[in-house]
This record gives sequence, structure tokens and C-alpha cells, in this order.
Amino acid sequence: MALCKTSNTGQSARRAWRVVSAFLPVIVWFISFKSLVFDFDIPLVSHERFENKNETRKSKLGDGCYHVFLDVGANIGVHARFLYEPESYPDAHTARSIFEREFGASRDNRDFCVFAFEPNPYHVERHVKLTKHFDKMGVRYHHVPVAVSDSEGYIIFYHNNDAGKEEWGFGDHVRGARGNAVEEMVPKIRLADWIMDEIHERQLPSKVFGNYSDINPTDGPKVVMKMDIESQEYAVLPDLMFSGVLCKTINYAFGEFHFLWVRYEPGPGGRGGLELQRGHDARNFANQLLRSFHSVKNCVTREFSKLDDESYLHDGVPL
Ligand SMILES: *[C@@H]1O[C@H](CO)[C@@H](O)[C@H](O)[C@H]1NC(C)=O
Ligand SMILES: *[C@@H]1O[C@H](CO)[C@@H](O)[C@H](O)[C@H]1NC(C)=O
Repeated sequence: MALCKTSNTGQSARRAWRVVSAFLPVIVWFISFKSLVFDFDIPLVSHERFENKNETRKSKLGDGCYHVFLDVGANIGVHARFLYEPESYPDAHTARSIFEREFGASRDNRDFCVFAFEPNPYHVERHVKLTKHFDKMGVRYHHVPVAVSDSEGYIIFYHNNDAGKEEWGFGDHVRGARGNAVEEMVPKIRLADWIMDEIHERQLPSKVFGNYSDINPTDGPKVVMKMDIESQEYAVLPDLMFSGVLCKTINYAFGEFHFLWVRYEPGPGGRGGLELQRGHDARNFANQLLRSFHSVKNCVTREFSKLDDESYLHDGVPL
């Protein structure tokens, strides 16, 4: 009996093993498939990012700002004054008409934030004074003392012996006689990242002071950008365009293109290189860039205009 039982057990164990070995490939496949799924599933779905969204939302510099004006390459910051104190600058025709069209005739300064990007250390004192001046007026003004680019790091800029013109040529090119230029290492940021981090999906204020029924889109919060960055535009603008940041965030942009010789070496991945021959080549590149950008259908940016307002170079209106 005992023997028979043992033999029975042995037989059923052997039968079970045969069944298991018949399905072994399926089991192995199933286990490895599951681990495959999990291996790929976790990084792709990134549960952490979505589930904890509320806890991880970092506050943005743009929170509480209904309208935003980005003055990229602010020099001594006259465009913020054109926006906030238009009555003092009757000759700033270009900037005044842009602001009037974009922000309407009944705008209120309390609805705005201005971010002024200017890396020139010679202008720091001026921006401190401007900030105090705007504080007294009860309006928001932030000096961001960095150069803008398509990557983070440092860049050599040149003081080009044009202090008499508020150093308007401070940038990555030596202008005029080489012996007169003085190097300055300045920090740079990727503007596309900064805009996504600090402006895109900013928290809008609960109270709006102005009447924006006359702007397009009607009653909409807007972001307007001025760009005058001494040929870094050939790095920054394609990055803003092809990353989608411009189309997602900026309603209207205007700025100057600099028709200089431009050479960016490719990065380690082989991308990022660009060479433009002075004048003709840079002009063609800029025109084609704007043209191709204009052909994008799904985009909040109405236009990037080649407009510039160089009135009041020295400001001249006391603070
Ligand atoms: C996140 O916050 C919003 C509003 O404060 C709330 O409606 C939503 O339920 C929250 N989501 C999670 C996942 O906590
Ligand atoms: C805003 O202005 C328009 C005319 O420009 C006017 O019809 C409308 O009543 C105003 N809205 C408010 C809330 O004052």
C-alpha cells in the first residue's frame, strides 16, 4: 500500500513535470514579457511626474502676471518705460503702437510683469535704479542679468568701446578695431527652458485691472517679446521655434536681426553648427526662418516682426 502510494505519487509528479515542461517555453516567454513590459512601462509612463503634479509644481516668476513683456537684450531698459510710461516717450512710435495694438488702449500697469534680460555688468546699477523707480510706481520689473542662448553655460562677450552709445554693441562679436574690445565672460541660459519654466502655464491673477475687450485674442492674457541680442538671435530663434516654445507661449515678437558673419561650431552630437556669411547670407537666413515659421498653422504667435525702436537711446527722461 505504502509502496503503491509512493509509486502513484511518483507517477503524478512525473506527469506534472511533463505538463510543466510542455508549457515551459510559454512560461519563460510570459515572465520575460512581463519584465519587458515593466522595464519599459516605468520610465515611459513616469507615474511620479503625473500623480504628484500638485505637490511638485514649482512656483514661477510669471505667477500672478496677467500680461508679460520680455525685453530680451534690454540694454538700459527703455522699453519697459515705453510700456509703463508711454506719455513720457512721444517719439517711441514703433514700440508705442505695438504695445497699444497688443495690450489695448485701456491697459493697466498692475496687470503686467516685465522681465529684462541684460548681461552687461556695466548696466547693473541702471537696472537697480529702474527697479526702485518701478517699485515706487507699484509695477513689476525684474532684471535678469544673463545672456540668452540655446544652451546653458558661459559665453565671452565684448565691450566694444561704445560707452557713448550705452554699449549697444555688447555681444559675442568684436565690432570695430579689435584692439579696442574688452572681453567679458557672462553667464548664459537657454531662453526656451526659461520661458517654459517661468512663463508658460503661469498662474494668472484672480483680479484683472484693465479692460482688454479691444485686443486679439479678446480679453486674453498675452506674452510679448522684444529681441535685440547682437546676432545670438541665430542661435536663440531657431531653438525657440523648433522646440515649439515660441508657438506655445509668445503671442507677438519683434526685434532686430544683425547681418553679421556668424559661426557656431557643432556640439559633440554633431548638431548646433551654423555659418552665415556677413550681410547677404544672414539676411536670407533670417527671412527664410521667419517665412518657414509663418507657415506653421497651429501657433499662438501672430508674427515675429523685424521691427525695432531705437528712439531714446540714452533714455533722457529722469527717473
Ligand atoms: C490638484 O489641484 C487641483 C486644484 O487645486 C485639484 O482640483 C486637483 O484635484 C488636484 N489633483 C491632485 C492629483 O491632487
Ligand atoms: C470695456 O470697454 C468696452 C469698450 O471699449 C466697453 O464696451 C465695455 O463695457 C468695457 N468693459 C468693462 C468691464 O468696463
